[in-house]
Amino acid sequence: MSKNNVPVLEVKNLVKKFKNFVAVDNISFSIEEGEILGFLGPNGAGKSTTINCFLGVIKPDGGEIKIFGKGLIKNRSEIMQKVNYCSAEYHMPWNLSVYESLLVYSTLYQVGSAKKRILELLELFDVSDLRNKRIRELSFGQRARVSIAKSLLNHPRLLLLDEPMASMDPDVVDRGIRLIKKIQKEEKISILYTSHNMWEIEQVADKVVFINHGKVIAQGTPLELTQQELKLEAKEPNLREVFIHLSRRSLKEGIEGKGNPSTSLRVKS
Ligand SMILES: Nc1ncnc2c1ncn2[C@@H]1O[C@H](COP(=O)(O)OP(=O)(O)OP(=O)(O)O)[C@@H](O)[C@H]1O
Ligand SMILES: [Mg+2]
Repeated sequence: MSKNNVPVLEVKNLVKKFKNFVAVDNISFSIEEGEILGFLGPNGAGKSTTINCFLGVIKPDGGEIKIFGKGLIKNRSEIMQKVNYCSAEYHMPWNLSVYESLLVYSTLYQVGSAKKRILELLELFDVSDLRNKRIRELSFGQRARVSIAKSLLNHPRLLLLDEPMASMDPDVVDRGIRLIKKIQKEEKISILYTSHNMWEIEQVADKVVFINHGKVIAQGTPLELTQQELKLEAKEPNLREVFIHLSRRSLKEGIEGKGNPSTSLRVKS
């Protein structure tokens, strides 16, 4: 909880439809101050759609989103000053240099001492030598590093990370995870973290919300989920097995008519 016992993010009964298709189906959960929530689910489960609702870039069809205790719709500009976002798919201005691009974001977020902050973050993610290169000249992994540096520019209180390390090499992922944990600890930042790499989630997540077909189907700490879904006596989390188990279980439920299995890979189990 934050100082006045208000969750940093609180979502209640969120619904998002694309025409007749329900992409997000009555989702509720919260993130407390300084907490990292692993937001998991198979391809097409509704994770990015939910995050886009939190950013206010798409309009929900139902439910309530509160960030820092305030309704998102009415207070979006104020809230977004202290929120940031990073995704493997995020496109930064193509023709600007890394430095120019981060300067544009610094202006949007009204970052004080912008030059110092940019150089500090480029150094932190080991991309200082790329600062004069244009974004379009970077490799995927280099772009991902610049994008995560961008997401920290405004010292966010809430960070929404949608597969932030998907194209980074294992060494950079390892360093990125350590940095995120350090920043979370020092700055008490709250993070929603989506990834298909269960190792990353086991490293960072205090708790996990697992969704499929737009619904929350399990939640708990990584160890609790492992005990609930796999083995009561488990001593270590095993989110990879939990992920496979939950995805296949909800696929079967979908086939029996309780959901829409069209977005999951059909496998014989
Ligand atoms: N703009 C859109 N119009 C129509 N359908 C959409 C739109 N955006 C997403 N969807 C659908 O909503 C569902 C959820 O998509 P979403 O991108 O949220 O999944 P995800 O959990 O982020 O998946 P992934 O792990 O592949 O990134 C999918 O079935 C997708 O096809
Ligand atoms: Mg996604």
